[in-house]
Amino acid sequence: MLIAPSVLSADFSNFAHALAEIEASGAEWVHLDVMDGKFVPNLTFGPKLIADLRGKRSSSIIFDVHLMICEPEKLFEAFAHAGADNITFHVETVIHSHRAISVIHSLGKNAGISIVPSTPVSFIEELLPYADQVLVMTVNPGFGGQELIPACLEKARTLARLREERGLRFLISADGGVNEETAALFREAGVDVLVTGSTFFKARDKTALVKRLKGLA
Ligand code: DX5
Ligand code: ZN
Repeated sequence: MLIAPSVLSADFSNFAHALAEIEASGAEWVHLDVMDGKFVPNLTFGPKLIADLRGKRSSSIIFDVHLMICEPEKLFEAFAHAGADNITFHVETVIHSHRAISVIHSLGKNAGISIVPSTPVSFIEELLPYADQVLVMTVNPGFGGQELIPACLEKARTLARLREERGLRFLISADGGVNEETAALFREAGVDVLVTGSTFFKARDKTALVKRLKGLA
């Protein structure tokens, strides 16, 4: 189980500190939520913040960029150059998702596809052989601190089964409503990467929290 704290719940006046806290916690990834005020009813940041954070750190932490924006294809190159390792877009925003995955790969990055709670797994079945990551939204995207929609866990289970049946290799990530009570449900559903925003930034001992979310303590 990999842990990907989201800076969405960090103090926006001090992202460098948030990144340092994430690195110190033992989490493997940092999750960067990019919002445009159109695909989701909130606004965050763009490639420059990611480039500046990348410039600050020499460590090998993975920059996991979650694009909650319309027409994400227009910005793949900018996010790749900014230092993203993983670029995930919403299939609800792109008609030619297969091409979009190829473009991300041609930029030398891992390609992720994401689905909101109302989008079924069947919508992305044809894409599964090409994706490096499937990010299952387990809340409606836009804000941190929401409650898990339990029905979405079934989608992680379905993805785990399809991956097994077809011998595929994508990672299954879950985003939204991860906390100490729900973490075990995500693990049981076959999730490989847990995104955590509010729970992570509220925790006083972040290292201990990361261990508990992984199910190790
Ligand atoms: C929500 C974002 C999430 C958010 C999760 O649209 O995609 O990454 O940070 O927040 P929590 O962990 O508080 O549910
Ligand atoms: Zn996210």
